[in-house]
Amino acid sequence: MQDYREVLDEILVSEEMLQTRITELGAEISRDYEHESLHLVCILRGGVLFLTDLMRRITVPNTIDFMAVTSYGAAARQSTGQVRITMDLKDEIYGRNVLLVEDIVDSGYTIASVLKFLETRHPRSLRVCALLDKPERREVEVPIHYRGFTIPNKFVFGYGLDLDEYYRNLPFVASVNLERYTPAIDPEEVV
Ligand code: IMP
Ligand code: MG
Repeated sequence: MQDYREVLDEILVSEEMLQTRITELGAEISRDYEHESLHLVCILRGGVLFLTDLMRRITVPNTIDFMAVTSYGAAARQSTGQVRITMDLKDEIYGRNVLLVEDIVDSGYTIASVLKFLETRHPRSLRVCALLDKPERREVEVPIHYRGFTIPNKFVFGYGLDLDEYYRNLPFVASVNLERYTPAIDPEEVV
């Protein structure tokens, strides 16, 4: 795998910007759910870094759970609109204040499907907290109650977001220069 510095175009959200904003979001969420408890539902895998930082800034009693969805194959960079739940929640959400924690809202298909899926279980409340919002790419309207940053229509990686599964561990969000990036061969395509 190439060193991330070879494919990095521009750092869009620095580590300091991320941490400052997440502190603000944590405070806002804590105010909104004062005297209540909160169930944070993280969508794997991109939302993991955001969840672990955000939950440490939330002061109301909280619990966490995880679910996984896929909307497209590993090598594609566009949502197909076909969203499949690949791992369901462990705990019941009936009657609970659920906050979905997601890395990025792009076309909106993922969040729209997950909201529809979770609503059938009748949580007490259901809101969305997205670190990044790419509004230019939206194909379906979705509510974003808590938003970290609005970013331009560029493919980004770092802080949970991957480029073909790599670079999730970087502490910042950067755009990729796709001309300098050479994807590894997809093993599924090798006959
Ligand atoms: P949506 O269903 O099109 O809104 O896509 C949401 C999912 O696509 C996110 O949870 C990410 O996993 C992935 N995604 C969208 N844009 C990017 C990006 O710029 N970098 C990395 N992953 C992305
Ligand atoms: Mg994701």
